[in-house]
Amino acid sequence: GHWKHGGLVGIQGYGAGVIGRYTNLADKFPALREGFHTVRLHQPSGWFYTTKALNEVLDIWDKYGSGLLNMHGSTGDFVLLGTTTENLEPIFTDYLNAGWDLGGSSSDMRTPSCCNGMARCENSCFDTMDLCYNVSMAYQDELHRPAFPYKFKIKIAGCPNDCIASIARSDLAVIGTWKDDIQVDQAEMKAYADAGFDIQGEVIELCPTQCMKWDGSTLKINNSQCNRCIHCINLLPKALSPGKERGATLLVGGKAPILEGAQLASVMIPFIKMEEPYTEFHEFVEKLWDVWGENGNNRERIGEFILRVGLGNFVEACELEPDPNMVLHPRENPYIFYEEYIGDDDEDE
Ligand code: HEM
Ligand code: HEM
Ligand code: SF4
Ligand code: SF4
Repeated sequence: GHWKHGGLVGIQGYGAGVIGRYTNLADKFPALREGFHTVRLHQPSGWFYTTKALNEVLDIWDKYGSGLLNMHGSTGDFVLLGTTTENLEPIFTDYLNAGWDLGGSSSDMRTPSCCNGMARCENSCFDTMDLCYNVSMAYQDELHRPAFPYKFKIKIAGCPNDCIASIARSDLAVIGTWKDDIQVDQAEMKAYADAGFDIQGEVIELCPTQCMKWDGSTLKINNSQCNRCIHCINLLPKALSPGKERGATLLVGGKAPILEGAQLASVMIPFIKMEEPYTEFHEFVEKLWDVWGENGNNRERIGEFILRVGLGNFVEACELEPDPNMVLHPRENPYIFYEEYIGDDDEDE
């Protein structure tokens, strides 16, 4: 290609947020001679803007940049495409004064992003936008000053629909779920049936764990078998909703193919409460960074690190308790060794 990554461009005091871009065709396109750098602007949680805020962003960009935008990058950021090295500091100063900041890039905590959660979805199991903001503010240092083996993405979805595809795209996926029973309004179930909805065909038979029964008037759910896929709730939103004990599942290690192939994140914490001040969540995140930061190779994503050291060793290093919810089928969980637990019991006797 004609574009070259990198180069040492950036903002004083920040190690991230600007991606240097040069072209070898500057002879043909003299405007590109001073670089055509990408600036990542930290987006607001859920990508909500007022027209006033948006106008401010655009005015500053018109003043110093090419006028080209990408709303939004797959990172989540508001992406400003094309400015010169010389203009970077003035752009940054203006954005900072207007209340904006740069996002992540390079080997740092990337700009966290979230679905719009409770702002639009009644079934969001926690306030995704609040957590996203909390993570950004709590980890300013990790966001602006790359100190990790490689990039680390946190993506936050309010329910198992995972509309931001966190499970495939992030090193730490936070996906809303519930612990207790699905709430059922039997009268609304009946209303769906009376309106001609094929409950048996569309819901009962498509439940992945086959844990529902519909006799034409009453719905029964064996909640101990339900894997919280949210299919039934999606189809029958008036009758069904997540339980009352809500929180999130934390999954680690998802990534697109770079060195190894693509990988989906694995469950590390089946259920965690997601309420301010998110203490338990922060402890987990920092533990991950400790273990991976200490032992990860240069440019090794945490998912690749787990492949290299083995999930069992990783789970142990992170001081996680093995949990049956981490297991899809018996005998397919090479990282849990129950001997240890049986051994512990023996010693007690
Ligand atoms: C050239 C001959 C053989 C080959 C290539 C072979 C290959 C394999 C492989 C690839 C596995 C799966 C290992 C795993 O998933 O961890 C396996 C498992 C097993 N094999 Fe063989 N095998 C051979 C001969 C035998 C013979 C002769 C026996 C018994 C008399 C046997 C008994 C077993 C058993 C019991 C398991 C299951 C082990 C477990 O699940 O823990 N294999 N074998
Ligand atoms: C009363 C007699 C037996 C009992 C109670 C018994 C019980 C079991 C149990 C509980 C398992 C573990 C299943 C699992 O973890 O999913 C197992 C696995 C196994 N048994 Fe037996 N067993 C018996 C006889 C035998 C005999 C006679 C053979 C071979 C000639 C045999 C070969 C195996 C093999 C190969 C496995 C591993 C299966 C796999 O890896 O999927 N068993 N057995
Ligand atoms: S993941 Fe769930 S809460 Fe978030 S936008 Fe999608 S449906 Fe709504
Ligand atoms: S959430 Fe999924 S697994 Fe649970 S009852 Fe509904 S369809 Fe079945």
